[in-house]
Amino acid sequence: AYVIAEPCIGVKDSSCVEVCPVDCIHPTPEEPEFETVDQLYIDPDECIDCDACVEACPVDAIFPEDQVPEEWTSFIQKNADYYKQQ
Ligand code: SF4
Ligand code: F3S
Repeated sequence: AYVIAEPCIGVKDSSCVEVCPVDCIHPTPEEPEFETVDQLYIDPDECIDCDACVEACPVDAIFPEDQVPEEWTSFIQKNADYYKQQ
Protein backbone atom coordinates (compact mmCIF):
# COMPACT_ATOMS: atom_id res chain seq x y z
CA ALA A 1 0.00 0.00 0.00
CA TYR A 2 0.95 3.65 -0.36
CA VAL A 3 1.40 5.92 2.64
CA ILE A 4 0.88 9.65 3.25
CA ALA A 5 3.68 11.14 5.35
CA GLU A 6 4.53 14.37 7.15
CA PRO A 7 4.53 16.84 4.21
CA CYS A 8 0.74 16.53 4.05
CA ILE A 9 0.30 17.90 7.58
CA GLY A 10 -1.33 21.32 7.43
CA VAL A 11 -1.42 21.23 3.62
CA LYS A 12 -4.20 18.72 2.84
CA ASP A 13 -4.10 19.70 -0.83
CA SER A 14 -6.49 16.85 -1.68
CA SER A 15 -5.33 16.44 -5.29
CA CYS A 16 -4.60 12.83 -4.36
CA VAL A 17 -8.27 12.25 -3.52
CA GLU A 18 -9.30 13.34 -7.01
CA VAL A 19 -6.98 10.93 -8.83
CA CYS A 20 -7.34 7.81 -6.70
CA PRO A 21 -9.34 5.26 -8.77
CA VAL A 22 -10.57 3.33 -5.74
CA ASP A 23 -11.36 6.31 -3.44
CA CYS A 24 -9.20 4.96 -0.63
CA ILE A 25 -7.88 8.35 0.58
CA HIS A 26 -9.78 9.96 3.45
CA PRO A 27 -11.23 12.07 4.79
CA THR A 28 -12.21 13.76 1.55
CA PRO A 29 -13.00 17.52 1.61
CA GLU A 30 -16.69 16.54 1.50
CA GLU A 31 -16.49 14.60 4.77
CA PRO A 32 -16.94 16.45 8.10
CA GLU A 33 -13.74 14.91 9.52
CA PHE A 34 -11.73 16.84 6.93
CA GLU A 35 -11.82 19.96 9.10
CA THR A 36 -10.40 18.23 12.17
CA VAL A 37 -7.67 15.95 10.83
CA ASP A 38 -4.13 17.27 10.38
CA GLN A 39 -3.49 15.22 7.26
CA LEU A 40 -5.15 12.72 4.93
CA TYR A 41 -4.64 8.96 5.06
CA ILE A 42 -4.58 6.01 2.65
CA ASP A 43 -6.52 2.87 3.55
CA PRO A 44 -3.91 0.08 3.28
CA ASP A 45 -6.59 -2.55 2.71
CA GLU A 46 -8.09 -0.73 -0.27
CA CYS A 47 -5.05 0.79 -2.03
CA ILE A 48 -4.22 -1.03 -5.28
CA ASP A 49 -0.70 0.42 -5.61
CA CYS A 50 -1.51 2.23 -8.86
CA ASP A 51 0.92 5.12 -8.16
CA ALA A 52 -1.46 7.83 -9.44
CA CYS A 53 -1.49 9.84 -6.21
CA VAL A 54 2.30 10.28 -6.03
CA GLU A 55 2.48 12.65 -8.99
CA ALA A 56 -0.69 14.45 -7.96
CA CYS A 57 0.66 15.58 -4.58
CA PRO A 58 2.30 19.03 -4.81
CA VAL A 59 4.41 18.47 -1.69
CA ASP A 60 5.59 14.88 -2.39
CA ALA A 61 3.94 13.46 0.70
CA ILE A 62 3.09 10.03 -0.72
CA PHE A 63 5.36 6.98 -0.88
CA PRO A 64 5.07 3.25 -1.49
CA GLU A 65 5.14 1.55 1.91
CA ASP A 66 8.61 0.08 1.31
CA GLN A 67 10.06 3.44 0.21
CA VAL A 68 8.90 5.70 3.03
CA PRO A 69 11.90 7.82 4.18
CA GLU A 70 13.42 6.58 7.43
CA GLU A 71 12.23 9.55 9.51
CA TRP A 72 8.64 9.02 8.46
CA THR A 73 8.21 5.25 8.81
CA SER A 74 5.84 5.82 11.76
CA PHE A 75 3.35 7.16 9.21
CA ILE A 76 2.80 3.61 7.90
CA GLN A 77 1.07 2.77 11.17
CA LYS A 78 -0.51 6.22 11.41
CA ASN A 79 -2.28 5.72 8.06
CA ALA A 80 -3.49 2.23 9.05
CA ASP A 81 -4.66 3.42 12.48
CA TYR A 82 -6.98 6.02 10.97
CA TYR A 83 -9.04 3.21 9.43
CA LYS A 84 -9.00 1.01 12.52
CA GLN A 85 -10.76 3.71 14.54
CA GLN A 86 -13.63 4.06 12.06
FE1 SF4 B 1 -5.16 5.39 -4.55
FE2 SF4 B 1 -3.45 4.42 -6.33
FE3 SF4 B 1 -2.60 6.15 -4.50
FE4 SF4 B 1 -3.27 3.68 -3.77
S1 SF4 B 1 -1.55 4.25 -5.11
S2 SF4 B 1 -3.86 5.58 -2.73
S3 SF4 B 1 -4.96 3.25 -5.18
S4 SF4 B 1 -4.07 6.57 -6.13
FE1 F3S C 1 -1.89 15.62 1.33
FE2 F3S C 1 -0.64 15.68 -0.95
FE3 F3S C 1 -2.95 14.52 -0.80
S1 F3S C 1 -0.75 17.34 0.54
S2 F3S C 1 -4.02 15.62 0.78
S3 F3S C 1 -1.11 13.88 0.23
S4 F3S C 1 -2.24 15.76 -2.48
